Amino acid sequence: HHDAVTHARQQSIQVVAHRGASEEAPEHTLAAYKKAIEDGADALECDVRLTADGHLVCVHDRRVNRTSNGRGAVSALELADLAALDFGSWRNRDEEPDWEHRPEDREDTSVLTLERLLELVADSGRRVELAIETKHPTRWAGQVEERLLVLLKRFGLDAPASAADSPVRIMSFSARSLHRVRAASSALPTVYLMQFVSPRLRDGRLPAGVRIAGPSIRIVRNHPAYIERLKRAGHQVHVWTVNEPEDVDLCVELGIDAIITNRPRAVLRQLGR
Ligand code: G3P
Ligand code: CA
Repeated sequence: HHDAVTHARQQSIQVVAHRGASEEAPEHTLAAYKKAIEDGADALECDVRLTADGHLVCVHDRRVNRTSNGRGAVSALELADLAALDFGSWRNRDEEPDWEHRPEDREDTSVLTLERLLELVADSGRRVELAIETKHPTRWAGQVEERLLVLLKRFGLDAPASAADSPVRIMSFSARSLHRVRAASSALPTVYLMQFVSPRLRDGRLPAGVRIAGPSIRIVRNHPAYIERLKRAGHQVHVWTVNEPEDVDLCVELGIDAIITNRPRAVLRQLGR
């Protein structure tokens, strides 16, 4: 019986490519997302920020310094400024690239707009879900969510028939950001990301209206009883960032719904898929 349950969980657990296949290709580039789709990832994770001229781009840090050859805050740069930068070369400044697919196109390593990522997903030829994380820019109160909904609407993704059917979900460490999303579109699923277990939510509740918990793998390792509580409260649990084989096993054992990983291919292989 135990084996059958484990097998069923290995088949059903969703594998989400964190910033694309970011172990093998530079994070948040088209190259990383193409690779993740090729690798068979069920879903893609991306962080979004607004440029000075109001475009949503996929960049994790507040500044572009770490992941490009430029400098400065995303919020202070225009899309044209970002388009002039290279978001791939930081990965091989001192060494040969360690990813299999050397980006061929310049587009593969230039700044990635959320719009381009949505196109890639739409053209993928199979169902690939998208987990979009709003970072919390105080400078842009409400505008990130507003632009996000406009863009999703253009792709027909803003108003799913039900949360369960939605290929897109919105994640954030900010409950307020998730609240704004739900106020605009009540059926879009939202994921409350957690780095710590807040004392207020220790009983397994989530902020009002949120159905999915997004704890770090550290929380899962240290507080498995808390994960049980979330599940008993009827929540789905999506865990980040799960790269170690023993953590993948732990997530399967605990009945986690989605694993967010930098190594989708390795995780799928470990799950026998
Ligand atoms: O998927 C959630 C995870 O990405 C949150 O942390 O810093 O990688 O955005 P971070
Ligand atoms: Ca993220």
